[in-house]
Amino acid sequence: MWSSFSPTGPEQLKPVGPPVLFAGPLKAEVSNSGPGGPVDAAEEQSCAVGVTSGQKTVRESPPLIRTFLIQRNYKVFDGAKPRYLIATVLLAQLLPAPRGTPPPQRRPNAAPTPPQRRPNAAPTPPQRRPNAAPTPLSEGNCRNQPRVQKDHHQPSSMEGTQESLKNLNGAETRSRSASNELIFFVNGKKIVERNADPETTLLTYLRRRLGLTGTKLGCAEGGCGACTVMLSRYHPHTKQLLHHAVNACLAPLCALHLVAVTTVEGIGSVAGKLHPVQERIAMSHGSQCGFCTPGIVMSMYALLRNNPKPTMAEVEEAFQGNLCRCTGYRPILEGYKTFTVEGGCCGGRGRENGCCMTNGSRAADGLEEVVDEAGRLFNTADFAPYDPTQEVIFPPELMNLSKGQASRSLCFHGERATWLQPDSLDEFLHLKWKHPAARVVVGNTEVGIEVKFKNMVYPVILAPAFIPELNAVTHTEDGITFGAVCTLSHMGAVLRQAVETLPPHQTEVFRAILEQLRWFAGLQIRNVAAVGGNIMTASPISDLNPVFLAAGCKLTLMDKDGSRVVQMDEGFFTGYRKTLLRPQEILLSIHIPYSKKTQFFSAFKQSPRREDDISIVTAAMSVTFTPGTDIVADLRLSYGGMAVTTVMAKKTASRLLGRSWGEELLQEACSSLAEEMTLDPSAPGGMVTYRQTLTLSLFYKFYLTVLQKLRLQGVNVPEVTSQCASATEIYHPETPSSIQIYQAVPEGQNQDDVVGRPMMHLSAMKQATGEAVYCDDVPLYENELYLAVITSTKAHARILSVDISAAERMPGVVCCLFANDIPGSNNSGVKQDQSILADGKVTCVGHIIGAVVADTQLHAQRAAKAVRIQYEELKPIITIQEAIAAQSFYQPIRTIQSGDLEAGFKLADHILEGAMHIGGQEHFYLETNVTLAAPRGEDGEMELFVSTQSTADTQSQVARALGVPANRVVVRVKRMGGGFGGKESRSTLLSTVVAVAANKLKRPIRCMLDRDEDMLITGGRHPFYGKYKVGFLNTGKIVALDVSYYSNAGNSMDLSLAIVERALFHMENSYKVPNVRGQGFFCRTNLPSNTAFRGFGGPQGMMVAESWITDVAQSLGRSTEEVRRLNLYMEGDSTPYNQVLHGLTLDRCWDECLSRSGYEQRRAAVDLYNRQNQWTKRGLAVVPTKFGISFTATFLNQAGALAHIYTDGSVLLTHGGTEMGQGLHTKMVQVASRVLGIPCSKIHITETSTNTVPNASPTAASASSDLNGAAVQNACETLLKRLEPYKTKNPKGSWEDWVKAAYFDRVNLSANGFYKTPDIGYSFDTNSGRVFNYYSYGVSCSEVEIDCLTGAHKNLSTTIVMDVGHSLNPAIDIGQVEGAFMQGLGLFTLEELHYSPQGVLLTRGPGSYKIPAFGDIPTQLTVSLLRDAPNDKAIFASKAVGEPPLFLASSVFYAIKDAISAARAESGITGPFRLDSPASAERIRNACTDRFTKLVPPAEPGTFRPWSVQV
Ligand SMILES: Cc1cc2nc3c(=O)[nH]c(=O)nc-3n(C[C@H](O)[C@H](O)[C@H](O)COP(=O)(O)OP(=O)(O)OC[C@H]3O[C@@H](n4cnc5c(N)ncnc54)[C@H](O)[C@@H]3O)c2cc1C
Ligand code: FES
Ligand code: FES
Repeated sequence: MWSSFSPTGPEQLKPVGPPVLFAGPLKAEVSNSGPGGPVDAAEEQSCAVGVTSGQKTVRESPPLIRTFLIQRNYKVFDGAKPRYLIATVLLAQLLPAPRGTPPPQRRPNAAPTPPQRRPNAAPTPPQRRPNAAPTPLSEGNCRNQPRVQKDHHQPSSMEGTQESLKNLNGAETRSRSASNELIFFVNGKKIVERNADPETTLLTYLRRRLGLTGTKLGCAEGGCGACTVMLSRYHPHTKQLLHHAVNACLAPLCALHLVAVTTVEGIGSVAGKLHPVQERIAMSHGSQCGFCTPGIVMSMYALLRNNPKPTMAEVEEAFQGNLCRCTGYRPILEGYKTFTVEGGCCGGRGRENGCCMTNGSRAADGLEEVVDEAGRLFNTADFAPYDPTQEVIFPPELMNLSKGQASRSLCFHGERATWLQPDSLDEFLHLKWKHPAARVVVGNTEVGIEVKFKNMVYPVILAPAFIPELNAVTHTEDGITFGAVCTLSHMGAVLRQAVETLPPHQTEVFRAILEQLRWFAGLQIRNVAAVGGNIMTASPISDLNPVFLAAGCKLTLMDKDGSRVVQMDEGFFTGYRKTLLRPQEILLSIHIPYSKKTQFFSAFKQSPRREDDISIVTAAMSVTFTPGTDIVADLRLSYGGMAVTTVMAKKTASRLLGRSWGEELLQEACSSLAEEMTLDPSAPGGMVTYRQTLTLSLFYKFYLTVLQKLRLQGVNVPEVTSQCASATEIYHPETPSSIQIYQAVPEGQNQDDVVGRPMMHLSAMKQATGEAVYCDDVPLYENELYLAVITSTKAHARILSVDISAAERMPGVVCCLFANDIPGSNNSGVKQDQSILADGKVTCVGHIIGAVVADTQLHAQRAAKAVRIQYEELKPIITIQEAIAAQSFYQPIRTIQSGDLEAGFKLADHILEGAMHIGGQEHFYLETNVTLAAPRGEDGEMELFVSTQSTADTQSQVARALGVPANRVVVRVKRMGGGFGGKESRSTLLSTVVAVAANKLKRPIRCMLDRDEDMLITGGRHPFYGKYKVGFLNTGKIVALDVSYYSNAGNSMDLSLAIVERALFHMENSYKVPNVRGQGFFCRTNLPSNTAFRGFGGPQGMMVAESWITDVAQSLGRSTEEVRRLNLYMEGDSTPYNQVLHGLTLDRCWDECLSRSGYEQRRAAVDLYNRQNQWTKRGLAVVPTKFGISFTATFLNQAGALAHIYTDGSVLLTHGGTEMGQGLHTKMVQVASRVLGIPCSKIHITETSTNTVPNASPTAASASSDLNGAAVQNACETLLKRLEPYKTKNPKGSWEDWVKAAYFDRVNLSANGFYKTPDIGYSFDTNSGRVFNYYSYGVSCSEVEIDCLTGAHKNLSTTIVMDVGHSLNPAIDIGQVEGAFMQGLGLFTLEELHYSPQGVLLTRGPGSYKIPAFGDIPTQLTVSLLRDAPNDKAIFASKAVGEPPLFLASSVFYAIKDAISAARAESGITGPFRLDSPASAERIRNACTDRFTKLVPPAEPGTFRPWSVQV
């Protein structure tokens, strides 16, 4: 609920007493005088541009503003009044910032009439969360309006406005005084908006209208937190000022009346002063690419505003709605721990993670290394202290406005919708009566998704959030009644207090609701989502509705003629997302009853990820006993996720009435539930067997819990044995703790020499303040247009016709373009085997067919949806198995063979065969693909700002598409919000289309793909299927291996050959296999082309190796650790591709990992735990990795750099590598600093561009520091040599002296550098040559615990030892290790892409595709960089680190497999078994065969059409 906030911080809680009213009616009149007196001339002037300065609310306003203005080339006059400056700044923010060379302003070319073609059906909307057809409708029409709208700032004419209101949709409010004036504050500045469009989100408004680009767009569906801002509101009735973190992407602009918005820019800046929240995330290395950082900063900031000294648990709760794809989260928590009760002065580095002052030092206990190993990556003494009293104050003018408000309705008209905000219940009911089809909007977390992703248009929106009756919380004799618009956060606070004050037996239901709320979305959603919204959405997977049903809650419904009370039972939901409410009715309130003395209540939620995820199955169970007995008097079992509505297991419940709560009842319940809770094998959402099993498993948990509670009440029931007790435990996350160990720089290393020191990422501060500029943050050109892509809905089809007539008629549309608009070649891609725009045929869903260019993103996207395409469908090939059956392979098929395979198998004591499927992975870089192309107006020149890892490829593909030489195209990359391989080759899909459009219209054109488009179109990590036959001796020694890999390459070759080759180069992982044959096939299918992804086939290759080595150990009944160690490579061994291993550190990593993890004790403890617990099992695994470093395409192993020294001594450096968060630029500055012997502060890198370093290899293969570092070294050495004479001449002189002397002596102070890796190159024909320059090694040991009944697992502990040579920067390298590990953790345990049998990607956003969240970090994480391991093959003895650690996350997968083995052993099943990746909850549960799984046999494959297929 946007305008009625509720308390969250403990000190905000008021005693709960009947009735508590929040947010009374608001007055919308604007007073011209604030508390400080009448508005002065300057303020009036700012009013004239639509903004008035508030009071001086920003602490450091004048200096901050001055710097801001100077940065943007505005003139600042000393002595200017602060208020005037504020107004000027606002104006500056509303205007586009001046740019270097503004592009020529031209008129658009008239679009040539394109051919008439035909319809385009939207892809089938997914059954679960919002990942449906990409038709954004929720964002407002901002871009087509002038940046500073004159009409906004003229005095409003209410009469005229009322007239127009009446005319539009007949949707006028009943009150004649409805205002169209939206008043709110952004970062202390007042905004009066008279043209608020109901479909405009706060995020669009901030970014496009106000130019506040610090707040990022990551998903537009409330699932990533990149858009987090803080909303503050003063509640005159409770006299509370409340602050909440919310998702700006879902917040309707119209709901912000009298709200103060704080964005990341509002709390600090690099030029002024960073807020401690910003500073600490940067200094603790918690920002890599930085795209998530502003959102995380704002979540933390909002928490501190409510509670300046939170606990770690509160910090973790605050981040439930934030995702980061780079850091692995650990450093963020570490940095922010310093704000917490637990953090103390040192961030919890003392004993037991407490403060060193109170608990003593861990180092003193020998837990942290001393001597020359350092254990701290940052020093808390460097942090600015946090003083809550110095926070920006709530705008006094807004406070006055809020205090003085009187009842007033609001009404806003947009292009397609009208927003009516009634001021009373009576008016609300009348409006609903008059507009029965009107959509009620409170938190907009459901409606916002419907509008954006499901193409819904709601012409009339009713916003009742201010109505007191709907906010009321009333305590009655038998329970608590919540007004329907109470937010979930508020409901949680009230229930928590009730639980604390009421007798426990009364609060069984309340505790169950609190348990559901703990895992309900993220805090940003809970802060706005209303309880009524959850009920009325009537989602079959709602987490609260099962509880309300089982608890027998009552609802009060109302229309203008009266009210009625209905019981929430199975009759309430009448169909999929339908309830029995009549169209004119609204939900007034819900009454939640107290539980009775003999009643027990539990709620359960099982989802793929614990945090912020939608349920697979959710359940609530209530049993009431005849007092003093175990006889069931009443039983209610309700389930979500088992039908189109929340359902109750009525038959089962009635069968069990009057029965004794014991084993017989359990058996009867389970067989009855298995009959009653059935699903069609094709049911939407899939996981059918798992879902059915869960209904039984969850009941069993309830059964045990009730037994325990009955015994506590003295009822004579069987005791729950200690073996079964863990099944009843409720999961409570433990605060993670971590240790990082790296080698300190040698004693005596010059203080200015930062190589080897944990230097902060150079952009971290800017990223934390939102000042770092990403591609879509580049200010808009005046004449810029927006592009949206038209994509195929069929996997394989001929295009019969395309009809653009409807699209062309839509507002703002400039033109549509298709293949025949490409002036150059339509062939694109790495192998030139894909089209820029489909010509006649489509080969995957998401294939780009054309594009629409319009004045705004919204118009372009709406029009793209209106293009109708008619297809003739052809048979598609979707899965690897279908491709194998059809022999649909790209060529060549690669083979690596060494030794004598036949002899090897003969020698073997045992031969074993097996297989494994490894699912694909979405890159989920937080910043989606984006391109801005600006024609320069002469000679075919074009400048492109692109989020790409490959400047040179982008340049050449664009040049080819435009039919111009490459020298006319400049590609510029400042930074990316993550890449991970996804922007290596596939980013050109978008860049070429945008360039073609810009060329056609001769205007700048921009496109940033929406998250669902990006996921649909660009492909990801290749799914792999590995089939193996392995021969081994009784000892466990491997003697022969025959393995075949099949990857799902998709509809073009892209990089798939090199990827399958890398899989083959890693097929033996770290094990010596004397006789081996590996074959690699890459399948041609009708999926979007899969592509590079961190590890590039290596992880898939090694994953299969770990599968066969586990099988070998299990078949011999030996420990996997022993068999792995036995087969580890030794120094001097040679690989199957005949490369001899020198400088091998595997054994050192192995031994250190075992000792640091305490493997032996851990193993013993795990075995003991497993003997003592039947339904939860622990597992342990140690996994090594050996990762080859070099591009396997030899020619790519080259790099260039360019260094200029200016006469003031400053150095401008550039090189071919791009910055995507991995800290490459930081490392390059460190290299240059050491070579030139000057501090890093004198060196600057602005960007990567094709006109400074040509023909750059993609930033990939982990080799960029090696290659570019050597090129930078080369350039700097050249310059140094040129300066040498002047240094010799003036040895006491400064750097600046030498530079000046050289300049006056006419020495060239610009030099380029170049490097190529020596002595590499390999031939598949002869199986000879050196593939890799060297290897990076690592070993990891992980321990997990699985819940055998639900398949959920906990990551208990991970210890990683990684050889990164002599680290250039331990902070960055440890960040890479942890980030890669967490990405691997996602790959192997969590992330699942679901495709329909027709090839439609069903998981297209964070709602349905789950990357690891904060809660997935191992509870104990130790990362140690191997000491004394110099590498003579790379710059300053370092090693590559980007990709190698990713595979170490497989230790978690194999620990899970170990735990499943223990569970299977409980059922008498031993020996090898197949477990595909990821080890999802579904797979874990299904593999733990037991009495419940036996009651739910899976449907026979081939007898039904599954919802999704394993591709
Ligand atoms: C990222 C994300 C995560 C989520 N996670 C979960 C989750 O874990 N579990 C879960 O169950 N749900 C989840 N949801 C769904 C959603 O947040 C909830 O259903 C939420 O409670 C909806 O409340 P709202 O106020 O935002 O509803 P709105 O979007 O404002 O409205 C939802 C519907 O309710 C109707 N409505 C609202 N109030 C009334 C009223 N008083 N009378 C009549 N009709 C009314 C509206 O007309 C509309 O149809 C999630 C959503 C998102 C975006
Ligand atoms: S952009 Fe708003 S949550 Fe992702
Ligand atoms: S730093 Fe978090 S997404 Fe990149």
